[in-house]
Amino acid sequence: MTFTKEEIKTRLEKYGTVYFPNDIIDKPEDLLGLDKNKEMLEDFFKALKNYKKYAKKLRELRMTPSISVLLYGPPGTGKTSLTRALAKKYKIPMCVVEADRLVSPLLGDTLKNMRNVVELSGEIAKENGLFLLFFDELDAIASERSSVNEVGEIKRGVISFLQILDRIDYEGIPLAIFGATNHQSQLDSAVWRRFTFHAYFGFPDFIIRKEILIKYLERLEQTQIEVDNTIYTQLEDELKLLKKEYQSIKKKSITSVNRFEFEDIFADKNKGKTIGILTSTRGYTGADLQRGMRVSLLKGIQKGLLKYEDLLDSLKFVGGTRIHVKQQQLLSGNEEHKEIYYSKSNNKNTQDINKSNKKKPLEI
Ligand SMILES: Nc1ncnc2c1ncn2[C@@H]1O[C@H](COP(=O)(O)OP(=O)(O)OP(=O)(O)O)[C@@H](O)[C@H]1O
Ligand SMILES: [Mg+2]
Repeated sequence: MTFTKEEIKTRLEKYGTVYFPNDIIDKPEDLLGLDKNKEMLEDFFKALKNYKKYAKKLRELRMTPSISVLLYGPPGTGKTSLTRALAKKYKIPMCVVEADRLVSPLLGDTLKNMRNVVELSGEIAKENGLFLLFFDELDAIASERSSVNEVGEIKRGVISFLQILDRIDYEGIPLAIFGATNHQSQLDSAVWRRFTFHAYFGFPDFIIRKEILIKYLERLEQTQIEVDNTIYTQLEDELKLLKKEYQSIKKKSITSVNRFEFEDIFADKNKGKTIGILTSTRGYTGADLQRGMRVSLLKGIQKGLLKYEDLLDSLKFVGGTRIHVKQQQLLSGNEEHKEIYYSKSNNKNTQDINKSNKKKPLEI
């Protein structure tokens, strides 16, 4: 017996959102700057598609692989979208399990929910072929940190979760398990290790941010809303300037500096003053840019034309995730894992550059 779409939806709707390949609109090529993750996940999905062919023999020989991936990084960096896009490309139905639907004040209920969702998905995978279960906010169910009197309970939750995953592998069920988290350091280390592949999703640098913005503007033009040409020219000018500065900073630096680190150094050097859209969106995620562009869309609709200032103001208005996460960490005094999110600008580098480059900060 195979499960129909309706049956799958009814079985799993209590725990999350089910996506069938034909209904997914995300495309891998729309997610920019994630080449390494795409490459790794493409390989994973290709193997997944072939898995069925070997599953029976592998099971008999007790050689079943562990088909699990952990995606981690700040919110809005494309973890869910890229998984959905690849699920569509490789025609694998999936369910995104939302932590708040799983976690209950009673640990017993949380465990039951966890077991249920994996068992129900496991049955679908066995009958229909492949299925992908995506645990969003995995840290909410597999966290290492908690108040002292909760430790025992949390440990039970974590152990139970690991046992459920092990059973899936042991039985050779073609169920791929994905976990996503914004708080990787809070994840129990046994859970972390349990995932075969790990993919970090970071903030896009200035070159990628420009590409994301251009893609959006091109789509906007298709709606017949005019895009003021100064947006393209100013973006291009700012990009050229940043590239030039990057080369110069790289030359003066004694250690290697990546584009992301360069942006911090450059901002320090200019005392945080921005030049235009690209420098104003330092620390923005793809989702932040999308939100800003949506705000600007209203102005574009209103005038039939999108102007540079409107786009800049809208982007500034929504703000970036990086500063938000930083503030939260400062407020909570929980700074110890912040550097996983941000590649630190090397102090030595900064000092060297400041010393050797006595030029005035850039004219804005
Ligand atoms: N690198 C990128 N290029 C283009 N668009 C992006 C990029 N990263 C994110 N986005 C856009 O931002 C939106 C949110 O992304 P998504 O929901 O996949 O983030 P996430 O990492 O799963 O966030 P969370 O951790 O909050 O669940 C999507 O609509 C996506 O198109
Ligand atoms: Mg997500």
